[in-house]
Amino acid sequence: MTATWWRRSVGYEVYIRSFADGDGDGVGDLRGIIGRLDELAWLGIDLVWISPCMPSPMHDHGYDVSDYTGIDPAFGTLADLDELVAQARRRGIRILMDLVPNHTSSEHPWFRAALADPSGPYRDYYLWRDPRPDGGPPNNWRSHFGGPAWTLDEASGQYHLHLFLPQQPDLNWRNPRVHEEFRRILAFWLDRGVAGFRIDVAHSLHKHPDLPDLPPRPEDVPSRSGSDFDELHHVFDLDQADNVLAHRAWRQVTEPAGALLLGETYLLSAELLHRYHDPDEGLNASFWFPPMHLDWSPAAVRDLLVDALRMPPGTLAWITGSHDGPRAASRFGGGDLGRRRALGLTAMLWALDGIPFVYQGEELGLLDPALRLEDMQDPLARRHPEDAARRSRDLARTPMPWSPDPGMGFTAPGVEPWLPFGGRTAADTWAAQRRDERSWLHAWRRLIAAWRALPDDLPAACWVDEGDAALLAFRRGQVLAALNAGEDDVGLPLPGPGVVAFHRDPACEGRRPEGALVLAPGDALWVRLDDEPGQV
Ligand code: NOJ
Repeated sequence: MTATWWRRSVGYEVYIRSFADGDGDGVGDLRGIIGRLDELAWLGIDLVWISPCMPSPMHDHGYDVSDYTGIDPAFGTLADLDELVAQARRRGIRILMDLVPNHTSSEHPWFRAALADPSGPYRDYYLWRDPRPDGGPPNNWRSHFGGPAWTLDEASGQYHLHLFLPQQPDLNWRNPRVHEEFRRILAFWLDRGVAGFRIDVAHSLHKHPDLPDLPPRPEDVPSRSGSDFDELHHVFDLDQADNVLAHRAWRQVTEPAGALLLGETYLLSAELLHRYHDPDEGLNASFWFPPMHLDWSPAAVRDLLVDALRMPPGTLAWITGSHDGPRAASRFGGGDLGRRRALGLTAMLWALDGIPFVYQGEELGLLDPALRLEDMQDPLARRHPEDAARRSRDLARTPMPWSPDPGMGFTAPGVEPWLPFGGRTAADTWAAQRRDERSWLHAWRRLIAAWRALPDDLPAACWVDEGDAALLAFRRGQVLAALNAGEDDVGLPLPGPGVVAFHRDPACEGRRPEGALVLAPGDALWVRLDDEPGQV
């Protein structure tokens, strides 16, 4: 029988370089995470996803793996990983590894062997093609980071495909030997006690076998980033039907271990995403990314929530941010309004059936830091300097401010962190917020506790039209969730008596409101009504 422990778990993304530095070299590591497990347990976290910690030349900060069964010395050792798993388990926390199966590093021994011997067995681990007759790349595909998706190997005269950096060659998932390698890799980590895998670009493993040119992006498909990648319609490089073959093969390895396969399945439409989840095979669940692309307005938030309501229960992990985009609180308007909106939208999503996830620092209400272009390390920002202030992924990757001390509790005093803190203040820190019951940290902690107290068997959500364009609400049985997505206070009429189960303001929580409740802009609340629907 399929395990479903993740449906009662609150997840937390650790971006390892920036979470906590255990050895004082300015880069976060596994021992740093071990040192902060008590904080995560206090917050109420059950599941920690760690960004890649395997050996890597770090062209894409670990998403270019050169050895899938080791630990990069910058992050520690296998013994540290074992200790992390054990120490986490003692606190009731599971560890999720980040699996990067679409591409390896160009320094992986498989790719080195493929370059060294074009007629050898490793050549077909990757996707090689001859140039076009004019000598140019085999097709018009572009890389996610901008520029052609092909790089010429002058020695053999062939191009290799890379949907990301040239140093991240794409694997050939039509080669059964690649499948075998990954089954072995999954089993290796499961034997060490990890609880499953976050699967990097899970929707992009297979490419159309003929690698045809991509047509231009249709006018009704919005450009997400404005880069040349977005000028094409990705019908042959992404979301190919055969992707599920790899997922099914992995499920055979994870299922007996009761482990989770959680996809970074970056498809924004409910219909497309749905095909990747199956109770018996394929991925168990995927992150849901529309909140990362939300341009906040009451109408846009309403559309997003209406879409979320339509998703099959339990198959999505709810996020508003990650290490791959600017901070949610900044994207949603900045300042305290942006912070309220980030928490408010999170509360709405978490009231739906799915896996709640927090990206490190969201619980502190962190906004984008002040970073200079010359400090930025993200390959995407370096390739698009004109847009870096708005798009750089470094905005979400500055080190965690744990305390106001020198080194901010992230690294040793006097040590230069790998990215600057970017102007974090004492009020941003975990230590200061932990002492203040009215802080963002306490509000997020209360949301986690309120989520845990939700009844297991809530019915599907049903939209409630409040007649005010800014007031967005739905009910799941006795639970009413409402958000003020507008810019002015709004009154929320309650359909009957009940208790406030979550509110940002601790003074409101646990109260039985009389008459309408007033919600400030960006605020959300959950009310547990006394009566079932139909009886009110
Ligand atoms: C998604 C990861 O989250 C991102 O950081 C990385 O650059 C790409 N996949 C390529 O692995």
